Amino acid sequence: MKFFIDTANLDQIREANELGILDGVTTNPSLMAKEGITGHDNVLNHYKAICNIVNGDVSAEVISTDFKGMVEEGERLAGLHPNIVVKVPMIVDGVKAISHFTQKGIRTNCTLVFSSGQAILAAKAGATYLSPFIGRLDDSSWDGIELIQQIAEIYSIQGYETQILAASVRNALHIVKSAQAGADVVTCPLSAIMGLFKHPLTDIGLAQFLADHKKANG
Ligand code: E4P
Repeated sequence: MKFFIDTANLDQIREANELGILDGVTTNPSLMAKEGITGHDNVLNHYKAICNIVNGDVSAEVISTDFKGMVEEGERLAGLHPNIVVKVPMIVDGVKAISHFTQKGIRTNCTLVFSSGQAILAAKAGATYLSPFIGRLDDSSWDGIELIQQIAEIYSIQGYETQILAASVRNALHIVKSAQAGADVVTCPLSAIMGLFKHPLTDIGLAQFLADHKKANG
């Protein structure tokens, strides 16, 4: 399973990249706004800055909601760097745009996915990645991990090549459960990645090893 970080914060992207386990980055308009990245040129330059840190796919989301606008925007984004993946919302014009990008060899990430029906549409259109939002489903008492399992089963039976990118991840357990459910990629905040390190027995064991070494060696 590939690890992406879900942020537009350059320091956090650098920190995750330094762990040596990072395969890419996802952003969205809310994450860009959170970092104070506004204005057309600043947004494009920020995507380039992210691509210069990470050697992996970087999802850049279109703002347009009509086919023509999404195509213009997506082609501009894809031209920024070979690692840019155009992120397109799961709406009617979005599926048309994904289909267009597929034919042009431009890679896509279909976002705002909340059902297996939507997952089938995105795969049929040739999306490179599919982003089911597991945290937002859990927030509203649906089971996000169950959706990942169902999509993984459908994609396997049908032979769809679209990669399942578990998104809207809230914690380390979401990462583990996504891996178990068959996600190809997980995108998560740095806090969820760092949560994977935590186990009290590791800390207790290390303290004991160091204490024993000190006692024996002075
Ligand atoms: C990433 O591709 C999604 O935009 C993101 O994971 C959404 O996460 P959120 O539900 O925490 O906003």
